[in-house]
Amino acid sequence: MEINPEKQLFFDRLSPDWDYSHDQVKMQRISRLFRKYAPQMDAPVLDLGAGSGVLMPVIHDRLSSGSQFNISADISLSMLQQSRVGQTIAGQFNLLQADGHFLPLRDASLNAVVCFQVFPHFEHKDQVLAEISRVLRPGGLMLVMHLMDHHGLNALHAEAGRAVCNDRIWPATTLAGHILQYGFKNEVVEEKSDLYVIRSRRLETV
Ligand SMILES: C[S@@+](CC[C@H](N)C(=O)[O-])C[C@H]1O[C@@H](n2cnc3c(N)ncnc32)[C@H](O)[C@@H]1O
Repeated sequence: MEINPEKQLFFDRLSPDWDYSHDQVKMQRISRLFRKYAPQMDAPVLDLGAGSGVLMPVIHDRLSSGSQFNISADISLSMLQQSRVGQTIAGQFNLLQADGHFLPLRDASLNAVVCFQVFPHFEHKDQVLAEISRVLRPGGLMLVMHLMDHHGLNALHAEAGRAVCNDRIWPATTLAGHILQYGFKNEVVEEKSDLYVIRSRRLETV
């Protein structure tokens, strides 16, 4: 399967202004949430659907040790290019234009995969979960996070333009149930009007 060109173009067009949608208050909240739900991450971390790299400093602050080998992956090259603008730590993140359904990464090569504000855009969620499970090392962390619940997300996307108007996310308990089928245990499953979090751990043996 190739990258969905319509969706790629949709996000390419949003890329110049994407950073502005994350003001200081929002970034402080995101930092607090990561401190709470992913207090420590080991590199290499994959930021899947990284967009313009707003998470780079947040992930950097949570790393137990510095690393040059983290990855920001996205279908939108324009988004990824934005992430090089004004980020002093950008060099710690390798940019990878890739689709979450087909990750060009080796088996068991990562310690954490972060999916922040991207899961509704995956058309085949089970396929993405299988890919994340494949690239994570045993004991590796997967974090799925949004700043609203599935009702809010689904309503938002329904109005957001043709390329994404059918993008949906399931209730957190439903997605968590699917996650269990891919060799994970769920450590956190929380959903309320302004938050959606699933933290899962790749099992040592499947
Ligand atoms: C709502 S934006 C979030 C970006 C970033 N995580 C943030 O919170 O600022 C969703 C991002 O996911 C990317 N994306 C959509 N479908 C994708 C896929 N199948 N594989 C990888 N990235 C994808 C888009 O290009 C876009 O940059």
